[in-house]
Amino acid sequence: MIRTDGHCPDRARLAALHAAELTRYVETHPRSVALAAEDARHYLFGVPMHWMRDWPTPATLHVEHALGNRLVDADGHEIVDFCLGDTGAMFGHSPEPVAQAIARQAAQGLTAMLPSVRSAEVGRLLAHTFGLPRWQMTLSASDANRFVIRWARAITGRPKVLVFDGCYHGTVDDTLVDRAGDGRTLTRASLLGQVHDLALGTVVVPFNDAAAVRAALARGDVACVLTEPALTNCGLVPARPGFLEDVQRACAEHGCLLVLDETHTISSGWGGQGRQQGLQPDVIVVGKAVAGGLPCAVYGFTEAVDARMQAAKRAAPDGHSGIGTTLSANLLALAALQAQLAEVMTPAVYAGMLAHAALLEQRLDEVIAAAGVPWTVTRLGARMELQFCAVTPADAAAARAAMNAPLEQALHLYLLNRGLLVTPFHNMLLVAPQTGASDIERLVGAVGAFLSEVCA
Ligand SMILES: Cc1ncc(COP(=O)(O)O)c(C=O)c1O
Repeated sequence: MIRTDGHCPDRARLAALHAAELTRYVETHPRSVALAAEDARHYLFGVPMHWMRDWPTPATLHVEHALGNRLVDADGHEIVDFCLGDTGAMFGHSPEPVAQAIARQAAQGLTAMLPSVRSAEVGRLLAHTFGLPRWQMTLSASDANRFVIRWARAITGRPKVLVFDGCYHGTVDDTLVDRAGDGRTLTRASLLGQVHDLALGTVVVPFNDAAAVRAALARGDVACVLTEPALTNCGLVPARPGFLEDVQRACAEHGCLLVLDETHTISSGWGGQGRQQGLQPDVIVVGKAVAGGLPCAVYGFTEAVDARMQAAKRAAPDGHSGIGTTLSANLLALAALQAQLAEVMTPAVYAGMLAHAALLEQRLDEVIAAAGVPWTVTRLGARMELQFCAVTPADAAAARAAMNAPLEQALHLYLLNRGLLVTPFHNMLLVAPQTGASDIERLVGAVGAFLSEVCA
């Protein structure tokens, strides 16, 4: 029974709880507080990468070490990690085969701007896992998406990229757009140092709207549709049944490439969401966890796309392609990729993660139902999102409407003070191979306790 009395969360209770949790954090994390003060001397916003300041803590949590699904912080607290480096450590922190492969390779060369004796086997593993025959490597998923867009424009001779409202594909200019109420593409207002009007090269349409995709593609100027198989960066918005198949057909009919960014949706199952669903994209991108969390990403493509890439490169004058970076496909990354694909990201490992994720979803559903709050849990394999709305959102606008920053920040801090880490910016939970039933009960119990504290 969903409560309609409007007292959950009760604003005054939430504010009082949040204030108490801020104090509790400072009192129980003296070393993190001290380290944050030292960091402030040298780092912009006091952190080595400025997003690290966006966690809901009054002073940034400092990690002593991370292993499996556990972090130990600078104050010696053991924390059950449901954030897992926002997917980079989705298969656990420092998976043993990857850590060993890195250690062995580290003693034998880190980078040479040459392939290694492992590259052929890594190529075979990528093709086997993701079902596409041809591959390239980069240092990050942002780079992979950036390079794929460049290739798509080069081989189609078309200027535009189509993305979906609410998308995030990394720090890729072409994708950092919003959709105005009248459907126009807007350069995202928060971007720093942006000088180009992104509307010149990008079209943005609502997710799950196949008619809008078709209308945009009919103009004949779109080189590729770049999408995640579900939007995972504005809450979680799954594709409606048949939507991605529709988009795939529309791409084929209009001669544009379908690029699936599986960086987050490899949580769905072995080979990623597209493979699980039987899609046939022209290109896929996988980053973050693909080499166990080492900086590395890959993009894979069909033989047909490969032939067109080769033709485009041959047709261009000699010189910089604008694609690739010096450290891409370095020796260390190849070693980590091989270990991760062969020994960690296996169907058997996925089976365990998915079973525990289903259990977490079910237990959270029970707690939500018992509290009677209009919240929902949306799950994509080992990834799920607790959303402050009664039904799973169908597009980014609905997902954004469900966000509630004060509630989210208070919840995250409350959980962290009880040894449970969830992803900042939204309520994403990831289940690692090491996440056990007792970890799940601990999280579910804490969410239930939070609800009883904030509901009048
Ligand atoms: C779907 C997706 N693609 C690409 C990226 C970019 O990854 P990175 O920041 O590792 O370059 C992200 C980052 O969150 C992402 O969510």
